[in-house]
Amino acid sequence: MIGAVSGGWRRWGLFAALFMLVCALGSAAAQDDPGHRQCSPDGRLCFAVTTFEGAATYTVERDGKRVIDPSKFGFMLRGAGKWGSAIALGEAERTSFDETWEQPWGESRLVVNRYNELRVPMIEQRATNRSIGLVVRVFDHGVGFRFAFPSQEQLADVMIDEELTEFVIAGDAEAWWIPGGEWNRYEYLYNMTPANQVATAHTPITFRREDGLHIAIHEAALVDYSAFWLQRIEGQRFRTRLAPSSQPWKVRRQAPFETPWRTILIGQDAPELYASSDIILNLNEPNRLGDVSWVRPHKYVGIWWAMHLDNWSWNAGPEHGATTEHALGYIDFAADHGFGSVLIEGWNEGWWSESGRNFKFAEAYPDFDMSRVTAYARSKGVKIMGHHETAGNAGLYERQLEDALDFYARHGVDSIKTGYVADTGGVLREDPDGTEKWEYHDGQYMARHHALVAARAAEHRIAINAHEPIKDTGLRRTYPNLITREGARGTEYNAWGKPPNPPSHEPTLLFTRMLSGPFDLTPGIVSLEGRDGRPIPNTLARQLADYVVIYSPIQMAADLPENYAEAPAALAFIEQVPVDWERSQVLQGEIGRFAVVARQRRGGNDWWIGGVTDGIAREATIDLTFLEPGERYTAEIWRDGQDGGIDRDRFAMVREERTVKGGEALSIMMEAGGGFAISLRPIS
Ligand code: NOJ
Ligand code: CA
Repeated sequence: MIGAVSGGWRRWGLFAALFMLVCALGSAAAQDDPGHRQCSPDGRLCFAVTTFEGAATYTVERDGKRVIDPSKFGFMLRGAGKWGSAIALGEAERTSFDETWEQPWGESRLVVNRYNELRVPMIEQRATNRSIGLVVRVFDHGVGFRFAFPSQEQLADVMIDEELTEFVIAGDAEAWWIPGGEWNRYEYLYNMTPANQVATAHTPITFRREDGLHIAIHEAALVDYSAFWLQRIEGQRFRTRLAPSSQPWKVRRQAPFETPWRTILIGQDAPELYASSDIILNLNEPNRLGDVSWVRPHKYVGIWWAMHLDNWSWNAGPEHGATTEHALGYIDFAADHGFGSVLIEGWNEGWWSESGRNFKFAEAYPDFDMSRVTAYARSKGVKIMGHHETAGNAGLYERQLEDALDFYARHGVDSIKTGYVADTGGVLREDPDGTEKWEYHDGQYMARHHALVAARAAEHRIAINAHEPIKDTGLRRTYPNLITREGARGTEYNAWGKPPNPPSHEPTLLFTRMLSGPFDLTPGIVSLEGRDGRPIPNTLARQLADYVVIYSPIQMAADLPENYAEAPAALAFIEQVPVDWERSQVLQGEIGRFAVVARQRRGGNDWWIGGVTDGIAREATIDLTFLEPGERYTAEIWRDGQDGGIDRDRFAMVREERTVKGGEALSIMMEAGGGFAISLRPIS
């Protein structure tokens, strides 16, 4: 009979219920926290943290739809096991922030920093009872979160073997990425694959969902910590994998400390994704250097391309590039055409020794006279851009750093290009007892090294342009003398790379690498020829477009002076194009296909537009709605000629003037591998 339960069964039922209650109390799983939620100022983007089966887990939603599916937090701690299970969330604190700050230089003078913050302690419900704080900032177009290790007896000397932060991309997506941890650091062409076929990638990595939503994962304020690579675990589930160190652990810090921010940028299309990248800057600490008027955005030329062409050599000898005589010639060229500095590579002793063991950063080769060269430069109103190639021997560089910086400062040098050419894992340093240790370009040691170089250089009023660097995570906000960097496949590959950079490279970079900060691409190869006459797959107008599209506050005119003599129309553009901007806007673009970018000169009312296309010819129709409505402008246009394109005449370029009005549309044809550059000056 239903409902009539015998006494025996009743007792068993009671026992079973008690047993389940005890299990539930004993397991964090059954106590999963309803969690905490914080949304963006516009309310459209929400971050939620909860516990699931005892693991701290987060999700991100936009307009009520998942962007990030449940993703866990965790750490592998040396000597202390895993942190990440039996977690309970503590009480949440919420704050809001809204500020507009001014950059000393940049793509935009003013940056809006507006977010809602959530702070939640995540406490282990075990004997070890370790607590890690979660700090989340939710912006209108993205999220940053970091972990705060508080001071606590049971976790004071923190040795992190691995960080286990997950990012589960919700909804089928494709991805643009370069491999993380492989030999060539960041100098790869981008892969485009389904998200579920990514291997281990560097960040920024950009995803485009089937519904068109763009998502980029990166990090901000990488200070005294290892960079992370994004490793795919299964499907579209990714996890942080920290760059290794020479030690058994990857990161070692004394609590209290905070990790870098893990960032998720979100845009409904590629231009909106690009605009969201201010978040990276906003998550960095404000300027620590005070007055940085000595950091000069400018254009430069240099003793450089001739070595990549193999016409000249870095090391001394019959073909030596960095001779006094060559330097004086470049200074004349710079002065005649208004360039701010001349980069000189290969003037110092030690080129090229294995792991850079012989570099002497303050000792010139006999055929180079630094005093004479810098005095001549001064007389012509030009600066010398210094060069410190280390071949990855960061330890040797640190040992010579004070002398090296002092030497340059005494000669009036106010910017230095550094270089760390070595395979991944081939950065050399020494322990205090002289034991050699090998580090990664993006491990904790190099994060510290780059901060050290920035701080020391600042004391000498010197700006740094690092090649083979650690990735950019927006530290230029804190150290505005970190003026630009490489960390991508640049123009050197158009001299000797196999293959050279294809025309899809820049439209890909804009929505991937460029989300992280400026890039010293070194454009302006007007000869369109690499080593042994190898054709560069770009049109002439495209080389010009890159100056506007790919942001760097110092931009090189990388070709040989004799080649510029043959290309006066192109040179006229390079002379005029600004490098410091009042505001910037990506008007159109699709990853790897095309992009049109407009920028207003800082402190001026002229606008500059650059357009780039991949190997396919396209017509760009530009809405001039960003100009004053109805106001008339002279548009000076450098565009591909009718017979132009990489499969036809790469040199066919038209320079013309038109009058346009704010609010009108302007159509420009880009031939295959081509592009255009436009300046717009108000007609007063
Ligand atoms: C690689 C850099 O990217 C390049 O610009 C430089 O000329 C060479 N290293 C030599 O330092
Ligand atoms: Ca390089």
